[in-house]
Amino acid sequence: MRPTETVRLDLDAIQGLVLRGYRMPVVDYVFVHFGDAAAARSWTGGVAGHVTTAAPWQSKPDTAVNVAFTAAGLRALNLPEELLRTFSTPFLQGMAARSARLGDSGSSAPENWVGGLGTERVHALVLLSALTPAQLTERAEWLDATLAEAGATVVSRRRAALLPDGVEHFGYFDGLSQPDVEALDDKPLTEQGAMAGRGRWRPVRAGEFVLGYPDEEGVLPAAPARDELARNGSYLVYRRLRQDVAAFRAQLARAAHVYAEDEDLLAAKLVGRWRDGTPLDISPHRRDPALAADPHRNNAFSYEDDPSGYRCPIGAHIRRMNPRASLPFDGKLVNRHRLIRRGMPYGPPLPPGVPDDGVDRGLVFTCLQADIERQFEFVQSEWLNDGNAFGLGDDKDILGDHDGTGKMTVNGVPPFFVHPLTRTVTVSGGEYFFMPGINGLRYL
Ligand code: HEM
Repeated sequence: MRPTETVRLDLDAIQGLVLRGYRMPVVDYVFVHFGDAAAARSWTGGVAGHVTTAAPWQSKPDTAVNVAFTAAGLRALNLPEELLRTFSTPFLQGMAARSARLGDSGSSAPENWVGGLGTERVHALVLLSALTPAQLTERAEWLDATLAEAGATVVSRRRAALLPDGVEHFGYFDGLSQPDVEALDDKPLTEQGAMAGRGRWRPVRAGEFVLGYPDEEGVLPAAPARDELARNGSYLVYRRLRQDVAAFRAQLARAAHVYAEDEDLLAAKLVGRWRDGTPLDISPHRRDPALAADPHRNNAFSYEDDPSGYRCPIGAHIRRMNPRASLPFDGKLVNRHRLIRRGMPYGPPLPPGVPDDGVDRGLVFTCLQADIERQFEFVQSEWLNDGNAFGLGDDKDILGDHDGTGKMTVNGVPPFFVHPLTRTVTVSGGEYFFMPGINGLRYL
């Protein structure tokens, strides 16, 4: 199939978390262990009727339910071994086994993970999203009743909630850039798709995120062998990222002291956006709230006119995570490493000026893709935890796995180095899941 041919997505068979997302204020992540295989299979078939799909809504629902499985979970459902083997290697191995590639060492090592993550006990993840905590509690009670009936147990659960003003714990507005996906809606593009040359954009091919559709190369990505099981499914990456807010603030303040005393500007240089979301590539000298709030302008940049990183540093978080047109091949390379992100903060905010209070807070990072190795793992290992792809040597993202020796380069004449960098983000759990389509849930 040529990349120009249009595709029809089975929106009512694709789980809504994959293509639509909800950005509801509260979410429960419930990790489940199955008992008897037959009871677990009948739970899976039953829950299929409750799962929120990507079909367009007449009005936004109050709650949403989504389900995904680990390789151990598919085995617990008695999926035949020869079929299981057709899933991708990272999924079959699980995230803990991939720790060397992901940089999960020291305090981020799997032996320090919490909530049973990284062990064979986790079979499924149920995501419950709601507009209010009361609605979420009601949904959680419903889920618990269905699990008890199926003889399944809850290994752990994590509640996450949006922070005031839509920021994450380090204080940056989050949830701004998301790839436009082909054939999803008739709505106008928001300049977040694939680069199409000369500053133009087109949607990313659906097969980059959903199994059973052509990808950016125009081919069907490798998927589990059976179409009934694989089609409309996606791989979900779950990472529980603990944020040391006091350490991040102290690191920033120390560096800003020598950076013209401009903490706001340095904070923007680290991420590539001012804290309100204004992109540095468009507005390098000041925040522009109207620009930040406009979905048709706040992603309309490509770094093409800023090859040296004077406006947005080459090593800034968003430029690393999506280098847009600043890598060779006119964006073609970048288009193969896109992620649909569905992150949510957890834990209470640390008030300004308060020293570390020891409370666990951070980001539940989740992303969806068709190929864990080419998408999440590549971005994490080659772009977040290494600088060579960008000519930055062993510089890492400010949010990377630092050991107190690294630096971040803020391009300029002369360049400014933020160093030494300590670890402010620690992985405290993670896993790879398969999120089947409704057809897949019924097949299982
Ligand atoms: C964008 C924060 C970890 C991938 C952003 C933005 C913020 C942010 C503030 C800009 C807002 C937006 O574009 O939506 C964080 C924090 C993290 C974290 C605080 C850890 C605690 C990660 C990780 C990955 C990642 C682990 C992937 C491996 C991305 C991507 C974008 C992004 C792909 C969009 C870039 C673009 O398209 O311009 N992040 N992030 N982030 N982040 Fe992160």
